[in-house]
Amino acid sequence: MWLTWRAAMEHALYGESGFYLRERPSSHFRTSVGASPVFAEAVLRELAAIDEALGGPEVLDLVDIGAGEGRLAAGVLAAAPSALRSRLRVTAVDLAPRPSALPEEIVWAKAAPDGIHGLVIANEWLDNVPVDIVEQTADGPRLVLVNITNGEERLGDSPSEADLAWLARWWRMRAPGERAEIGRPRDRAWASVIVRLARGRAIAIDYSHALDDRPPYGTLAGYRDGATVAPVPDGSCDITAHVALDACAASGESAGAVTTALTTQREALRALGVTGSRPPVEQAGNDPRGYLRALTRASEEAELIAPGGLGGFGWLSQSRH
Ligand SMILES: C[S@@+](CC[C@H](N)C(=O)[O-])C[C@H]1O[C@@H](n2cnc3c(N)ncnc32)[C@H](O)[C@@H]1O
Repeated sequence: MWLTWRAAMEHALYGESGFYLRERPSSHFRTSVGASPVFAEAVLRELAAIDEALGGPEVLDLVDIGAGEGRLAAGVLAAAPSALRSRLRVTAVDLAPRPSALPEEIVWAKAAPDGIHGLVIANEWLDNVPVDIVEQTADGPRLVLVNITNGEERLGDSPSEADLAWLARWWRMRAPGERAEIGRPRDRAWASVIVRLARGRAIAIDYSHALDDRPPYGTLAGYRDGATVAPVPDGSCDITAHVALDACAASGESAGAVTTALTTQREALRALGVTGSRPPVEQAGNDPRGYLRALTRASEEAELIAPGGLGGFGWLSQSRH
């Protein structure tokens, strides 16, 4: 069967027996959440700062969108001091069924709640929101169709007027053969988060690219069992494409965000105290166990902020108040 890439991704990832309804993401790829508990601790520091800015509300929300196995939500909850924990309402949002080991206090939902006061975090969610792909031809862009059984491709119709307008604004192809991934569904998904935020901050963290540096042939990729594979949309692998976070930012502003910061994970985590600094060597003699623990932590921090790796991810942070 031939489908547009957006329909094919939808079917392969979230259709009946789709990849994400069946599989545990951590068996297939490593995210910052799985890399180290340091990530959840940094998110907790961000949450505590928001709590203070909101004047310590009776109920403080933490909403983890695209929660996967719920490990970030569980990690923040476990690390929270009891005075904060007693006011925390943690919601993990995912289309997958509730993981069995999730702490009871965490609400599991298929959609984000309304009226959020606190922090929304979406780590590697938007790259899994299905997108259409177009290829430039001598007559303009054409939708790419894919055979869902073997991943073969052919060209289909021209994209809609709305998609053409998005391409003109956010992703200009220059030569025949170039490809673009139309980020409109991600812009809408992100706007739907911002409208649910009453007061506080929403942060999207993802592989991203910017207007002046779009990859000319796109970024579509498949992952299975820790390896990259051909992105065949038959439900056997994860299918992902990097995110035009600048377009999501504009969409968030239209939806009511009053502040926007778009930076890298490296800069964002360094601002939250994750520096990758090694312990002083003298500690090795005085406190060998403490030294080893500090060394392990330093290497985990270094992985989270590595410029060519997780540190290069984009952090889009928007607030409402
Ligand atoms: C790459 S995983 C990220 C898991 C986790 N955040 C982490 O960092 O380890 C992406 C998750 O987003 C979920 N997802 C995709 N679209 C969604 C939607 N519209 N609503 C809720 N969850 C969604 C998928 O089911 C999947 O579990």
